[in-house]
Amino acid sequence: MSQVLVASNRGPVSFSLADDGTLAPRRGGGGLVAGLAAVTEADRAPDGGQAPPDVLWVCAALGEGDRSAARRAPGGRLDLDGHDTGGAAVRMLDIPAATFHRAYNAVANSTLWFVHHLLYDTPRVPHFDARARRDWQSYEAYNAAFADALAGEAAPGAKAAVQDYHLSLAPRMLRDRRPDLRIVHFSHTPWASPEYYRLLPDDIGAAVLDGILGADHAGFLTDRWAAAFLDCCEQLLPGARVDRAARTVTRGGHVTRVGVHPLGVDGERLRARAAEPDVAERRRALREQVGDRRLIVRIDRTEPSKNIVRGLAAYREMLADHPEWHGRVVHLAFAYPSRYDLPEYREYTAAVRRLAGRIRDEYGTASWDPLILRVEDDLPRALAAYQVADVLVVNPIRDGMNLVAKEGPVVSERGCALVLSREAGAAAELAGDALTVNPYDVSQTAEALHQALLMPPDRRAERCARLAAAATALPPRRWFADQLAALD
Ligand code: G6P
Repeated sequence: MSQVLVASNRGPVSFSLADDGTLAPRRGGGGLVAGLAAVTEADRAPDGGQAPPDVLWVCAALGEGDRSAARRAPGGRLDLDGHDTGGAAVRMLDIPAATFHRAYNAVANSTLWFVHHLLYDTPRVPHFDARARRDWQSYEAYNAAFADALAGEAAPGAKAAVQDYHLSLAPRMLRDRRPDLRIVHFSHTPWASPEYYRLLPDDIGAAVLDGILGADHAGFLTDRWAAAFLDCCEQLLPGARVDRAARTVTRGGHVTRVGVHPLGVDGERLRARAAEPDVAERRRALREQVGDRRLIVRIDRTEPSKNIVRGLAAYREMLADHPEWHGRVVHLAFAYPSRYDLPEYREYTAAVRRLAGRIRDEYGTASWDPLILRVEDDLPRALAAYQVADVLVVNPIRDGMNLVAKEGPVVSERGCALVLSREAGAAAELAGDALTVNPYDVSQTAEALHQALLMPPDRRAERCARLAAAATALPPRRWFADQLAALD
């Protein structure tokens, strides 16, 4: 029985299955795992003076490799079966594959993610028909599987921290099963305004809000996303009473407090990782490739909301407007493959590759490659790119936080200039020392890239130091501890 439980779709480790049946582990991408892994990992001196809490982390098996690992482990407990889970106790749920796919791909990633990031091409999608209802039932079943697991593992009065849009119904379901527990739900995404949220079928939109209100505390990354959630409760959920000053929602006699917890990075841990020899090796290789040219760097999941295509278009426009940079700058665009089960993601990645090819054809010469695009997972190379970046560009359409904007300045060696979308949650803390842009305005972004390249080194270093300080203000362990404390 555990006193503290975490639930998230993605766990700290995922496995691919080789033909001979062996399992190859890999670490997941994205801010949620980065944050939670830093909370539970026991391999180093803890930040903020806090010891790693004794946590049971419940997650879903994502593919066949995971299913096989979960089945082989006693009670799905990967840590008890010799797997490296970074020190956490991990229970991986073997939810039936068809149920999982409908919940994860169709509802969580193609619907809720699209709503919160404003990604729909509304003349065509969404299209909520009978099939969408079947998908929704799978989402309910998937959430119920988590609620059952948490209810079965939690000690009396334990605290459960339920993460993100995959698990919006689980807090309510868990409260129904175990009224003694104290529950927090945390959203790692933006939250849509009521006008956009209303795209959801009325009953589904209400069920998502009601599900989160099953928690005692609902956490968000910025004031803006918290306010949008309160707006949705007030306007779209019958019977909900919203107190804006107190930041509470009362429904059916139960009070949910809404809190803002702007997740930052653990600077010490990140710098230690960046000091490893594999990063130095990648840095040498990069330098050999680009010489002493200026570097504009971006690191993303291959994700439509990251706005990679407009970012590349801005670089192209900068090269067109400022021929003085020809031969003197290289754009490194590293993208971590993501959600390839969804056609939108595959098509988006293809669009990124097409535009990158065009830029190379237009501007490349025998002695200068203006753009290096890599679509693969390579953490040490990403860290090396942060170290040597002159400019870091983070231009999402919308983003809950965006930890790249925080990691880059922390790891940067000489100080990088940050070009940052005003629609990233990170802008709430970093805008003062970044060059902020409207992510849809390609010309403005092109000009910001140019200005960032021109920024004098001492100004850049000063700004970067302040960005790094802001980025580490709320490291993961404190971020998590604050949420648990909010339950007392
Ligand atoms: C975002 C979400 C996380 C998710 C991550 C990676 O950061 O908020 O919940 O884990 O993206 O996406 P994936 O679908 O690969 O887990």
